[in-house]
Amino acid sequence: MNVPQTPGSRLDAYIDRYAARTRGMSASEIRALFAVASRPEVVSLAGGMPYLPALPLDAVSTVVEKLVSERGTVALQYGSGQGDETLREQICQVMALEGIDAHPDDVIVTVGSQQALDLVTRIFIDPGDVIIAEAPSYVGALGTFGSYQAEVVHVEMDDEGVIPEHLRNAIQSVRASGRRAKFFYTIPNFHNPAGVSLSVPRRREVLAICQQAGLLVLEDNPYGLLGFDSGPVRAMRADDADGVIYLGSFSKTFAPGFRVGWAVAPHAVREKLVLAAEASVLCPPSFSQLAVSTYLATQPWQEQIKVYRELYRERRDAMLESLADLMPPGARWTHPTGGFYVWLTLPPGLDSKAMLPRAVTARVAYVPGTAFFADGFGASSLRLSYCYPTPDRIREGVRRFAGVLEEELELWSTFGTGSGAGGLGRTERVDAPSPDTT
Ligand SMILES: Cc1ncc(COP(=O)(O)O)c(C=O)c1O
Repeated sequence: MNVPQTPGSRLDAYIDRYAARTRGMSASEIRALFAVASRPEVVSLAGGMPYLPALPLDAVSTVVEKLVSERGTVALQYGSGQGDETLREQICQVMALEGIDAHPDDVIVTVGSQQALDLVTRIFIDPGDVIIAEAPSYVGALGTFGSYQAEVVHVEMDDEGVIPEHLRNAIQSVRASGRRAKFFYTIPNFHNPAGVSLSVPRRREVLAICQQAGLLVLEDNPYGLLGFDSGPVRAMRADDADGVIYLGSFSKTFAPGFRVGWAVAPHAVREKLVLAAEASVLCPPSFSQLAVSTYLATQPWQEQIKVYRELYRERRDAMLESLADLMPPGARWTHPTGGFYVWLTLPPGLDSKAMLPRAVTARVAYVPGTAFFADGFGASSLRLSYCYPTPDRIREGVRRFAGVLEEELELWSTFGTGSGAGGLGRTERVDAPSPDTT
């Protein structure tokens, strides 16, 4: 290519060579926000970072030091593509807390559950294939689905999770269009970003619908052990070992920096996942796996999860109390019983994406709802996370956010528009039948 490249040039010398699948790749709205949101004067209610200052770092460093001095030549060596066997056994014990009776042979260790999402998509999706997903849905999964050129069909949720009738309709309308959905992607516990959980009766109904339609379920469950009110809820995988691929992660219950997650899948699928993983990374990192395995074997990991739960519960309370005190009429939000997130729907007429620059100027950040839809919807909603800021910072953040809403509503009532929004386009979007009914 002869096009000259200078640092900072906006020309891309390789523009005509990229694979078609790169068209489905775009920077996540969260990534773009990180730079701004991490400035100290900004209260970030945007990111979903676990609160690692609550982790006993001295204990973790003992684990790591011992690992290197006693098993360094194994920990620093290549390992099996499927993952360390002892860790896979331990993962089965973790999953037993949610009623899953799995064999270590059916577990594959991955580089976070994000890699598991990638592998599952890679082995099932050809360009144009349909994935059914909740509305809204996890931005990282949507990014992966987009990168394999999947078409995502969203299904509405309410406070009890995905609405079975709508799921049934979506499956039928995909079929009526001559296509077949490859899988249904769901986050049943403490949904990211919706902050709701799939109720127990609905779990049965959703499983029955998918079984009847021959539709594979992809159950993504990184937050399942972070419930505030009761013990873990029985996983969908526990009731259908053949029809559900389950994804788990140590990112939220231990630390994301190790990048250790897993998938448990029907046997034949698991074999394909291992082949795909080997083609991608040869093997998951031995060092991280053995560190997590040693942590599970030698540290009170369930106590640590309790510590996290208490901490996040206090922060959830701070957020919900502040929202109840400060939100204007017309705003509504979900009441999570675990996990990291609240999903807030704005008073009619406001647009979360258009409003963001004003919020950042007011030193508060959130993620606009559009990040969580593959189809451009979501402008009437946004995600607030309470996992990282302290309760005082959360209160301050919500106070600033309420100030922004007040200004926006004033603009709206005076001019029929808020900040930065082109009237018609925005009105159409906000007034369109909203898929974000949580
Ligand atoms: C629903 C969901 N799935 C998967 C992931 C990926 O987690 P990790 O790759 O750290 O295991 C996240 C992270 O935020 C998530 O919220």
